[in-house]
Amino acid sequence: MLGWLYSYSALPIARRWRGYTVVHSTPTLETYLSLRKATGLTFKNPQAATTGLANTIFAVQISPSSSPDNVVGMGRIMGDGGCFFHLVDMAVHPEHQGRGVGKMIMKELKERMDKNVPETRTVLLFADGKANELYKQYGFVETSTTSPFP
Ligand SMILES: CC(C)(COP(=O)(O)OP(=O)(O)OC[C@H]1O[C@@H](n2cnc3c(N)ncnc32)[C@H](O)[C@@H]1OP(=O)(O)O)[C@@H](O)C(=O)NCCC(=O)NCCS
Repeated sequence: MLGWLYSYSALPIARRWRGYTVVHSTPTLETYLSLRKATGLTFKNPQAATTGLANTIFAVQISPSSSPDNVVGMGRIMGDGGCFFHLVDMAVHPEHQGRGVGKMIMKELKERMDKNVPETRTVLLFADGKANELYKQYGFVETSTTSPFP
């Protein structure tokens, strides 16, 4: 059931969609830091990011088909591989926002989860600002922002 956790990076899938190519693979450190910066996400220590990226369960990258090395969108799932998952690093370069790239990333992440992980899973995410509207379209609902744990 969970073989994909180990095999996905060895067999990246590429799919074309509206002038973009979607690849199932983890961003390089350089791409990761650069897309986070370009989209206004917080800075991550490069060494910590290297560790974090290596622990990715599943990730999607999107590039214009005419310029495959230029990654303009990414999304990543981390977690325990069976029960609990966290969707992170949703980012689309400002020059490509508003064209459905974010939706494409969400669709790919959701399909992969639906195919490979039992529906008893819990997927969490922290939503910034307007991204809420995107996540709602994929079944996410707002929950408490407070925790009983310090
Ligand atoms: C959030 C983000 C990934 C969306 O990517 P995108 O490619 O622009 O999104 P899409 O074009 O696929 O739009 C998807 C939906 O998101 C919503 N949405 C996204 N950004 C929005 C905005 N700024 N204002 C209003 N709605 C927005 C809309 O509901 C839209 O659906 P609709 O077209 O049916 O109205 C992108 O704006 C981004 O990288 N933002 C900066 C980084 C960030 O905040 N990441 C999320 C952290 S939680």
